[in-house]
Order: sequence, then C-alpha cells, then structure tokens
Amino acid sequence: MENNQMEGFKKLLLSNQAWVQEKLDLRADFFLRMKDHQEPEYLWIGCSDSRVPAEDITGTEPGELFVHRNIANLVIHTDLNLMSVLQYAVDHLKVKHVIVCGHYGCGGVNAALSRKSFGLINKWLRNIKDVYRNYSRELESLTDPDHRFRRLVELNVMEQVRNLAETSIVQKAWQQEGRPWLHGWVYDLHTGRLKDLTLIHPGDLPDDIYQYESFEN
Ligand code: CO
Repeated sequence: MENNQMEGFKKLLLSNQAWVQEKLDLRADFFLRMKDHQEPEYLWIGCSDSRVPAEDITGTEPGELFVHRNIANLVIHTDLNLMSVLQYAVDHLKVKHVIVCGHYGCGGVNAALSRKSFGLINKWLRNIKDVYRNYSRELESLTDPDHRFRRLVELNVMEQVRNLAETSIVQKAWQQEGRPWLHGWVYDLHTGRLKDLTLIHPGDLPDDIYQYESFEN
C-alpha cells in the first residue's frame, strides 16, 4: 500500500506523454509555435484549491493566462509574491484584463468564518475576517449558514478586486495606457459554471482616498 502511494506520481509523467501526443495530433507545430516570449492577455488570480484549474475551466491554452494562485485568492499589498506577479503582468506583459476568481465551498473562507485556530495560516485568513467585519450587517442578516458562506465568498472576491484597483501598479497603467479591466468572478464547484460578479473599468477607482497623485515608485 505504501509503495502504491509512492508510485502514484508516475501517472502524472505518463499523462504528460499522452498530452504531448494529443496536442501534436491536433497541430504538428503546437509546441514549436510557442514563441520565445509570452503575450498573455489575462492575469488570473485564483484559489490554490485543486478543484479550480484556471486553464481547464476557461478553455485556455498555454500562452493565454498568466496565473497566480493562493489560498482564498487574496490580493494583499504587502504580499511581495503577488505584487511582483501583478507588476510583471501589468507593466511588462501588458495584460488587458486581471481576473480574481473565487469559488463557492472555499476552505479558506470557511476556515475564516470559524473561530478555530489553524496555526500560521490564521495570519493569512485574518484578511477574510476583515472582509466579514466590513460586511457584518449584511452577512448576519443571512440566517442560513450556507447562504452566509456563499455571500462571504462573493464579497471576498469583490474586496480583492478593489484591492487591485488601490495599487499604484494598476492606477499607473490606467493613467498611461487605459488598461487593465479588473474582473471578479466566482466558480461553482458543483456546476462547473463561472459567475461574473463585478467589473472595474480603467480609471473607476471606488474610493478617492486610495488615488495616488503620482507614481514615482
Ligand atoms: Co478556495
């Protein structure tokens, strides 16, 4: 049994061979036509959850999505990893759209809704508790715990889209190039469908206090 568990990973390498063949059968130059550089139009910020594979659910191919995933698809201004991805995607790849995609049934959101301590990850999930606090009146008016959970998933996505709009990275690109559009979507694990929740157009900052006057840094 233990040996079987260890061997399981080989399936992935075998599947890769089959995938290569499938692509070559469709187009002999599938891999050759991959340029030396990438020109994706979209930056995808999604949850790390294994049930939400960005390319599969959007029918996109290699080269189309620039992807960042973390627990509960959070956009935190002190997260050097995400901010580096955002800056590279917006400044250098010049993506037209940034998509934050959450999902119903998100374990991170569910954990944040509870009073349980999960160790280090408490510090990450605390950001979702802040979203709860901002919308506590609306959330606590929902008596069905499942409705409350689903609504917090949606509100969390919308807050992260606002967090994107509040970065100098996005504001600079808005001012200088009139892009990117910021989208908030939610994925339903049980139907496979994406729901469009929110869209912020270039220049449409929700709150003035976050507007930078200049972008030296
Ligand atoms: Co999740």
